[in-house]
Amino acid sequence: MSDLISIEPATGATLWTGTSGNPDAAVASARAAWPGWAATALVKRIEAVRRYANRIRTGSEELAELISRETGKPLWEARTEVESVVNKVDISVRAFADRTPQRQLPSQPDTRAALRHKPHGVLAVLGPYNFPAHLPNGHIVPALIAGNTIVFKPSEKTPAVGQYLMDAFDKAGMPAGVVNIVHGGPAIGKQLTANDELDGVLFTGSAHTGIALNRQFASRPDKILALEMGGNNPIIAWDTSDIHSAAVLIVQSAFLSAGQRCSAASRLIVKDDLYERIIKEVKRITDRLIIDEPFASPAPFMGPVIDNETADGLTESFLALMSHGGKPIKHMARPVAELPFLTPGIIDVTQLEERPDIELFGPILQVVRVADFEEAIAEANNTRYGLSAALIGGTAKHYDQFWSSSRAGIVNWNKMTVGASSEAPFGGIGLSGNHRPSAYYAADYCAYPVVSMEAEKARARIGIGLKDDINGEEDGSPAAK
Ligand code: NAD
Ligand code: SIN
Repeated sequence: MSDLISIEPATGATLWTGTSGNPDAAVASARAAWPGWAATALVKRIEAVRRYANRIRTGSEELAELISRETGKPLWEARTEVESVVNKVDISVRAFADRTPQRQLPSQPDTRAALRHKPHGVLAVLGPYNFPAHLPNGHIVPALIAGNTIVFKPSEKTPAVGQYLMDAFDKAGMPAGVVNIVHGGPAIGKQLTANDELDGVLFTGSAHTGIALNRQFASRPDKILALEMGGNNPIIAWDTSDIHSAAVLIVQSAFLSAGQRCSAASRLIVKDDLYERIIKEVKRITDRLIIDEPFASPAPFMGPVIDNETADGLTESFLALMSHGGKPIKHMARPVAELPFLTPGIIDVTQLEERPDIELFGPILQVVRVADFEEAIAEANNTRYGLSAALIGGTAKHYDQFWSSSRAGIVNWNKMTVGASSEAPFGGIGLSGNHRPSAYYAADYCAYPVVSMEAEKARARIGIGLKDDINGEEDGSPAAK
């Protein structure tokens, strides 16, 4: 009987129904397939993931529409997600060669010293809902190239997209058991990650879940654990002659994907004497944003958040900020009571004695005004997270200071906090990750290095520290006679 239902956030219609899977059976299947996959020549593994990329490319419009329906994100944005899925394959092939290569090392004349990498074995991939194709794919593809087999648990909020990826692997002729899917929510996730036959877990999701996994694996150094978690990302607005561009970058950073990006700017830190002009322009642009269903014409800037529960939580968070002394600049509204559309909320929290250091995963921008640049940097770093940070405006000297003081894995100047490139490592510090960045560096956690000293023949002698041999042999070896 179906116990999983995926609802289209923009319409409330049922998109997909299914049943929670059996994680133990999926792990057993991946375990059985692993020796064969790991022994498959690299070129064949690469061919297999390229066939998968071709399947995705062929059905790209179908997948983009599915992503839009299941997440509520605009179609134009879902199309860019599909493009990232396809591009990931070539990028991962390059990253595998670059980050985890086979290499000869300097050695003695009769010795070959080799660096090679081996796959871990069976890896679980746990995905989030905001990029339901791109982010799990960002773990799965490099892990497969490296020779691991996979148990993929998509977010329970986006199972249809997860199933689409799985079907694409099947249609691409991936050998049985190499990629397995198991549907379900946190309970199934827990059961999956508790399976001792796993060699590791590659996770993208909230800090709350990531910390639980970190605790769970604290006494298991034998398992690889890669945690890509959330952010509470700052964007600083400093002296600039182009207020409009600054405001556009702020609005895009805060509200693209309805603020549901781990790298979204949640905190705008603005210089006192710039405040009125910047806020006026940010508000003016935000007022013009089209918030609509994914396929609407004209195309929307953003759609709804993922579900009503999330919309309720964000609305409550906005009200809580107000009740603690925050001054609304733009109220967050819920235009259709029964659907999770939210208009972006902007609130000045300068006067709050204690600003909550939590990720509000949606279209809420908190504003803090500061007097000088040192205060701005201190405010930017005033978080346990450390994923993305940006400075808009300022001089090269300001940027140098910002770059060297910022505690984040992405530090940008006059660019959005979002829109990370798959060609670069993507990860953060603090509660944003466990120092195993993904994207280009995913190769690093998909394989471990093995160093070998190799010679065709065993030839050895002890040159120092030996007593004279009573038989008069020079180095204790009869062969040396
Ligand atoms: P989530 O943590 O609620 O869920 C992520 C996955 O973990 C889901 O598949 C879920 O079913 C599973 N899960 C939940 N509890 C579990 C448990 N105890 N044991 C095992 N599995 C469990 O995250 P979400 O709400 O789906 O996604 C949004 C979050 O993801 C945000 O915090 C966002 O910042 C973060 N995110 C991070 C990145 C990054 O690369 N750093 C990228 C995108 C999203
Ligand atoms: C995300 O993975 O949530 C955001 C990626 C980005 O836009 O930087």
